[in-house]
Amino acid sequence: MLVNSSILHLTWSVIEDTPSSDLLTLTDTALIRLLLQQIARKILLSGEEVCALYDYIGSRMALIRDIAVQQIANGCAIAIRQARLYEVTQAQVRELKKLDRLKNEFLNTLSHELRTPITSISLAAQTLEAVLKQEGIFDRSGPRVTQLFQILHCECQREIKLINDLLTLAHLNAEVTPPIMDTINLKTWIPSTVWLFEERIRNSRQQLYILTTAELPPLTTDISDLERILIELLTNACKYTPAGEMIIVSAYATVNTIQISVSNSGVEIAADEQIRIFDAFYRIPNNDPWQHGGTGLGLALVYKLVKRLGASIQVESATGQTTFTVQFPQSDTARNGAHSSCRERVVFLPGTPARQIR
Ligand SMILES: Nc1ncnc2c1ncn2[C@@H]1O[C@H](COP(=O)(O)OP(=O)(O)OP(=O)(O)O)[C@@H](O)[C@H]1O
Ligand SMILES: [Mg+2]
Repeated sequence: MLVNSSILHLTWSVIEDTPSSDLLTLTDTALIRLLLQQIARKILLSGEEVCALYDYIGSRMALIRDIAVQQIANGCAIAIRQARLYEVTQAQVRELKKLDRLKNEFLNTLSHELRTPITSISLAAQTLEAVLKQEGIFDRSGPRVTQLFQILHCECQREIKLINDLLTLAHLNAEVTPPIMDTINLKTWIPSTVWLFEERIRNSRQQLYILTTAELPPLTTDISDLERILIELLTNACKYTPAGEMIIVSAYATVNTIQISVSNSGVEIAADEQIRIFDAFYRIPNNDPWQHGGTGLGLALVYKLVKRLGASIQVESATGQTTFTVQFPQSDTARNGAHSSCRERVVFLPGTPARQIR
């Protein structure tokens, strides 16, 4: 008996539309009945056509089951492979976390062990210098001794800074103490911190400007953390800015934020380096032409401190200018007290040539 090709086509489409799981859970007879019902719903069939279809579907059942079983087997194989991959990835993540914890513990122990001897060496050097000066030996010994003492003091300070940075980082990672919040007026607080760099900036023949908007709302934050952030950003600006270029510290409020930024001109950080500079111990290769040195911990500390204060930090670097911006969410009280103003208050470092800033 001939089966009309459009009916066969329709039969296949109904079979293909039926989910594989349904095909498997039904017995052949129930399945054929189901398919016929669905086909009959779509077109009117004669008794002969129904019989022909019954035979046709029956002959295809083995094939349909094979396909369905194959599909389910493939699905299972993919699921098993994914589960194994997930297991392997999870094990690797656990291993990396363990190694990271061990590394932090090692650095912490090492820093504690090194702090006492290096502090003693530094104190001994200072005492020795004082004794030699008192005895009049220092002045008679010539420039070589002065130079050696300078190296000794400088290297001790570098080691002490490194150890203190490592300990602070370990402390921040452990999240042992919460920040101590206080409210400050940035218009007076920023200059008082920035002036610490006055002599250094003057000696490096750089120019410094402080910019604040006339109406700046008070900021509630941990002042010692904020001071550390600003000092690290300014230290970097001083280290990496060529002579004759500018360093600008600015503070301003937007509708929802208070932002403090430190910009320096004459140097750029490549886009692919911008994400890496916040990693501990990362220093951009060949980016320290004056050989100031460093360990690459400054910005890692800044990043942790900023996060601890509930703020965020961004770096932008283009057209010969690099800007680090710390953004604090503005509290409702501060927001209500703030009035937007485009008038800018510019403070120049005494002695640097006054230049208009846009
Ligand atoms: N203001 C900046 N201008 C140009 N490059 C910068 C600036 N700040 C940071 N960098 C680059 O980012 C790198 C990482 O800075 P980070 O402060 O973490 O380390 P460091 O200054 O090298 O050492 P440390 O701060 O531990 O003494 C620096 O080595 C420098 O190449
Ligand atoms: Mg630094």
